[in-house]
Parts: sequence; structure tokens; C-alpha cells
Amino acid sequence: MTDDYTSFVDYPDGATPLDPDELDGLKFKHVTTRGELDQLEQAGITEGLKWLDKQKNPDVLSEAFVLELHKRLFGSVWKWAGTFRRTEKNIGVDPIQVAIQLRQLLDDAKYWVEHGTYSAKELAGRFHHKLVLIHPFPNGNGRHARIMADAVLTKLLDEPAIDWAGGYKLEAMNERRDQYIAALRAADGHDMRALLEFVGARKAGVDS
Ligand SMILES: Nc1ncnc2c1ncn2[C@@H]1O[C@H](COP(=O)(O)OP(=O)(O)O)[C@@H](O)[C@H]1O
Ligand SMILES: [Mg+2]
Repeated sequence: MTDDYTSFVDYPDGATPLDPDELDGLKFKHVTTRGELDQLEQAGITEGLKWLDKQKNPDVLSEAFVLELHKRLFGSVWKWAGTFRRTEKNIGVDPIQVAIQLRQLLDDAKYWVEHGTYSAKELAGRFHHKLVLIHPFPNGNGRHARIMADAVLTKLLDEPAIDWAGGYKLEAMNERRDQYIAALRAADGHDMRALLEFVGARKAGVDS
């Protein structure tokens, strides 16, 4: 890692810092500020969303789709896009558990869809939380898992997407992000109420 990357240390609350090997996967070596990186990532995400929009009946709840979507969103910026995390992070399961727990989550989500266990928004909110809690990738987990939840809604359930940003920029520090991160932390402790309210699902209780 060179000094060029020091400006990336300034992460918003709830973001995952990259380790030097991961930073080495940056395809644009001239990038020196967080703002430049954000812009490049945003351009990639726009392309990835165009790709997603064109997919007819994709197998959203499959490992292949989870990986391909991450690659489509972040592959223009990061060499490791679309591949599972190999390093330990402050959020997320042990790296050797990622594929196993993702498989479990995808199976659970398929079951919820088949059996109508939850309303569409609740299903998407719960799926989103479990996916970011696994934290399959070195970076981009929040954005990827929000788009995954929206893909479940729009591609699988024929429902509208979640209004994640609610008029704010969810990637930056603001009250909407504070609410979002606080809701995820409560969900880590099995209290789903704040998150379900955040995603626009009906009010729910504490999980047993
Ligand atoms: N306590 C938590 N429990 C579950 N997920 C969390 C928690 N804190 C943060 N997150 C998720 O992790 C994301 C940050 O991970 P990161 O890989 O940097 O994603 P991105 O680069 O898209 O912001 C947040 O946007 C949020 O979705
Ligand atoms: Mg990040």
C-alpha cells in the first residue's frame, strides 16, 4: 500500500475498511481520494443496474447470481469483484464460512418465498440483513445487498423496490444512514422492528 491510499481511511460509520491486498485490486492506480473512488464505483454501479434491468427471470436466489451481480456492480473498479472475501472484517462471518452461510441464506429465502412466510418487504429486509451480516465481499456489501434485496422484490416477487435512501445519500454520513446502521445493529441482536420500519414493512416484534 502506498501513501496515496491514506485518504480512504476516512470511512463512514458502519463501512468496512479494506486491507492492503484488497486495495491492491484497485484498477485505477491514479485514484487518490475517497471522492474519486466513490465516483468510479458509482459509474460501475450504474452500468451494473442497467445489466440487472435487462435480466428476464434471473435466478436471483443462487450463488452464481449473487457473485455475478457483485462483479457487474464493482468489476470495473476492483479486480476481486464477484469473488468471496478471504480476510477477516469487523463485520461478517469467518471467511471460510461465507459460502456455507450464503448457501443457507439462499435456501432459507427460497423457503420464505415458496411458503409466504413473510410479506414481500419483510422478506427483503430480513434477506438484506442476513446478507450484509455474512459480508461475502471485501467491499461493496451494503450496496450489493441493497440491490440484491431489490432484485428479490422486483425480479422474483413482482413488487416495488425499497426506498433505501429516502431522499438522502445512504453512503454518506447523515441521519438516514445513522438510522439504517442502528436498525442493522438492532437486527444483529434479533430485534427486527427498526429495520422493518426502515424498509417499509409492517411493524414486527423481537425474534425468538
Ligand atoms: N452491525 C451491522 N450488521 C449488519 N450489517 C452491517 C452492520 N454495520 C454495517 N453493516 C452493513 O455493512 C455495509 C458496509 O460494508 P461495505 O462492504 O463497506 O459496503 P459498501 O462498500 O457498499 O458501503 C453497510 O452499508 C451496511 O449495509
Ligand atoms: Mg465500503
